[in-house]
Amino acid sequence: MLTTFLITALFLQVSFSIRTSRDIIYRAPNVTSPEIPLDVFQVEAPLRNTYEGAACQQVIMQHNFTASYGSPYVGTYSPPKNCTFTTTIFNMSITSIGINYDRLGLIFLGDIEVWRTTTAMPVRTGIYYNFQKDMTIFDTLLQSEQKVIMELDNIYDSVFTGNYDVTMTALYFNDHDKATPADLILPISAELSSQNKSSVLSLPDGNATVSFTLPRNVERAVVSILASGNGAEEFWYTNVPTQYDDTFNNTALSGYGPWREVQLLVDGQVAGVGWPFPTVFTGGISPGLWVPIVGIDTYDLPSFEIDISPWLGVLCDGKSHTFAMEVVGYDSVTTLGTVGSNWWITGSIFLWVDSAGSQTTGTTIQSSTAAPSFDFAPTIGTASGLNTSLLVSLSAHRTISHSSTITTSHGPRTLTWSQSLSYINKQNFTALGYNATLYQLTSGTSSYSPLLSHPSTETDLITNSYSYPISFTQQYIVPIDPTVVNSTLIADLDRSKLTSRIPILSYLTKPSVFSAPEVLSTRQNGSCIYFWNNTYYDFAGAIDPAMGTLGATEQWFSFSGPVESGGMESYGRHVRAIDGYVPVLTEDETFDHTIEVPETQIVPGNEL
Ligand SMILES: *[C@@H]1O[C@H](CO)[C@@H](O)[C@H](O)[C@H]1NC(C)=O
Ligand SMILES: *[C@@H]1O[C@H](CO)[C@@H](O)[C@H](O)[C@H]1NC(C)=O
Ligand SMILES: *[C@@H]1O[C@H](CO)[C@@H](O)[C@H](O)[C@H]1NC(C)=O
Ligand SMILES: *[C@@H]1O[C@H](CO)[C@@H](O)[C@H](O)[C@H]1NC(C)=O
Ligand SMILES: *[C@@H]1O[C@H](CO)[C@@H](O)[C@H](O)[C@H]1NC(C)=O
Ligand SMILES: *[C@@H]1O[C@H](CO)[C@@H](O)[C@H](O)[C@H]1NC(C)=O
Ligand SMILES: *[C@@H]1O[C@H](CO)[C@@H](O)[C@H](O)[C@H]1NC(C)=O
Ligand SMILES: *[C@@H]1O[C@H](CO)[C@@H](O)[C@H](O)[C@H]1NC(C)=O
Ligand SMILES: *[C@@H]1O[C@H](CO)[C@@H](O)[C@H](O)[C@H]1NC(C)=O
Ligand SMILES: *[C@@H]1O[C@H](CO)[C@@H](O)[C@H](O)[C@H]1NC(C)=O
Ligand SMILES: *[C@@H]1O[C@H](CO)[C@@H](O)[C@H](O)[C@H]1NC(C)=O
Ligand SMILES: *[C@@H]1O[C@H](CO)[C@@H](O)[C@H](O)[C@H]1NC(C)=O
Repeated sequence: MLTTFLITALFLQVSFSIRTSRDIIYRAPNVTSPEIPLDVFQVEAPLRNTYEGAACQQVIMQHNFTASYGSPYVGTYSPPKNCTFTTTIFNMSITSIGINYDRLGLIFLGDIEVWRTTTAMPVRTGIYYNFQKDMTIFDTLLQSEQKVIMELDNIYDSVFTGNYDVTMTALYFNDHDKATPADLILPISAELSSQNKSSVLSLPDGNATVSFTLPRNVERAVVSILASGNGAEEFWYTNVPTQYDDTFNNTALSGYGPWREVQLLVDGQVAGVGWPFPTVFTGGISPGLWVPIVGIDTYDLPSFEIDISPWLGVLCDGKSHTFAMEVVGYDSVTTLGTVGSNWWITGSIFLWVDSAGSQTTGTTIQSSTAAPSFDFAPTIGTASGLNTSLLVSLSAHRTISHSSTITTSHGPRTLTWSQSLSYINKQNFTALGYNATLYQLTSGTSSYSPLLSHPSTETDLITNSYSYPISFTQQYIVPIDPTVVNSTLIADLDRSKLTSRIPILSYLTKPSVFSAPEVLSTRQNGSCIYFWNNTYYDFAGAIDPAMGTLGATEQWFSFSGPVESGGMESYGRHVRAIDGYVPVLTEDETFDHTIEVPETQIVPGNEL
């Protein structure tokens, strides 16, 4: 489809004449100092008020990824010597010089994926960025020796001259006296670390099923899943049901519909699901939008958590049980059917054992897992016997719940996991598919039971909520003879991520920290005109000096959340950039309080 062709064959050029109604200002390259590497950053709240005062720190990997397809970095992690710590932060630092695509990076400790990232797009004059991630939920791994494996499949040749030089440093803090990290973490992965390989699984072509016999005294079990659509599924939210793939003569649309559900199955039954956040990589929608501000969650792809504690009565019976993951889509033919390649997926089962108990038991699980309900409506416009437009609208709803009375040394407790999920997607393809608008809203809640030691009744569930609106327009102006006239992509994007949550694994790891939920509200709004030349094979990213981009991206970010001291930390940032080879931040303000974040506006043409 066109968006795929955007990221696989972009040859750009400069134009000085185009203006849009949004008054985009073109900025010429900084000829004085073109050699200064560019800081390409993700707007994020700092993890701590200060990174000073670490108990210790160490470099845990340093590797220059060049031609690295199928050759991951393999090294050894050793816990810091003579250093007591309760909090671990990884600081990833990447530099690159040359031309390349954005690449996916997966970091494993043994068979367990701990961080999935995508890179910024490099340029000839160089880029760099640093990003910090709190790794404390993996404490049980970090306290012992592990194999470190990082897969970052890069092409490095005469065209793709961009390397990725990655340094990962661990910062350790000893600042929490009541941390209760998981006792055991088991992988739902390919388990290939013994062969020095990444353990990622690829669906739908692979089989993401593992079996484990759990200890008999588990008191809490939570699964965390990392899943991203790549290749034909990178832009899954722009897909149409397969029977509409060939609506337009010259424009190939991708199939299996625009809705995706990532499922966790315990012994073949749906334990919980995730309806993914539409992460936009730095080559996505229009690469020019993401320089120098990358998309929400680009450097730290979000995982989702499912509390499987209601299953513990069954799972602690001393027998082997299966844990499987699937990714399904909506097709007007098959409804809950397969999807395109490749969903890269791994899961981790976090287990807390009941040290005072020897056998966890439970009542029969009360479950409600009815299939999602869908509403799909297509409208095809025709002229002179040709399809000229396609309007598709899909909505979906689902509720899931599992509940059981689980008996441990704390006595009997009702443990519940419940989810309510909503989704709407509307796409309007016009101009024979060359123009497209999209509006999608994914929203919902997940509820789980508090700590067993928490003095509460069964009605006291902790409820997390999320809302992910995204709206964009893409207009491709592709000439009849691209060897004579250059091509243009005009894109407008507006999207937000709004969450209020107490992440389950963080809460179980440091319960006393979470007296209130973390509240995040962030919005990105951008416009970009992007050019490419079909015969100019010296491929370049959005900000190469020989190329051209006219764009501006603005982001609002407001966060409040717990800090180690137990108090609330608030953070705000408002930043606006003129995109391009030498981008300019026309506005960059940070605040020590939350800020007003305007709502995502549905881009005109995407109205419901
Ligand atoms: C197309 O782009 C190339 C490369 O940037 C540039 O040299 C050429 O002048 C452009 N052609 C037109 C017709 O604008
Ligand atoms: C170009 O870069 C130099 C060095 O960083 C800086 O002093 C100068 O202001 C920049 N020029 C423009 C037009 O931004
Ligand atoms: C990374 O490797 C490339 C290709 O060999 C080389 O040009 C570059 O200098 C290396 N970077 C570092 C920091 O070693
Ligand atoms: C461990 O750290 C303590 C406190 O910093 C120090 O007194 C002791 O000598 C260290 N032991 C070793 C073996 O390095
Ligand atoms: C992360 O690493 C980079 C590169 O070494 C360094 O500049 C930066 O200060 C580090 N950040 C933290 C929080 O340690
Ligand atoms: C894995 O890598 C280590 C370190 O490079 C090496 O010693 C070992 O032989 C490798 N194992 C396999 C199965 O390739
Ligand atoms: C996937 O693997 C599991 C466990 O090995 C097996 O039982 C199941 O039949 C496999 N499924 C498919 C579709 O191959
Ligand atoms: C019009 O679209 C429908 C649905 O995708 C398709 O079956 C049909 O073949 C298309 N007609 C033409 C002329 O392309
Ligand atoms: C579809 O496109 C092809 C190639 O551009 C063209 O030859 C053919 O006539 C078109 N079909 C229709 C129905 O316009
Ligand atoms: C498609 O987009 C182009 C470029 O913005 C515009 O000129 C044209 O009118 C649009 N066509 C339709 C049918 O909306
Ligand atoms: C594309 O770039 C090449 C190399 O610079 C140039 O020869 C060609 O004319 C350009 N094409 C267009 C349409 O401008
Ligand atoms: C679809 O887009 C076209 C062209 O922009 C517009 O005229 C039409 O009103 C849109 N349809 C809907 C239902 O939004």
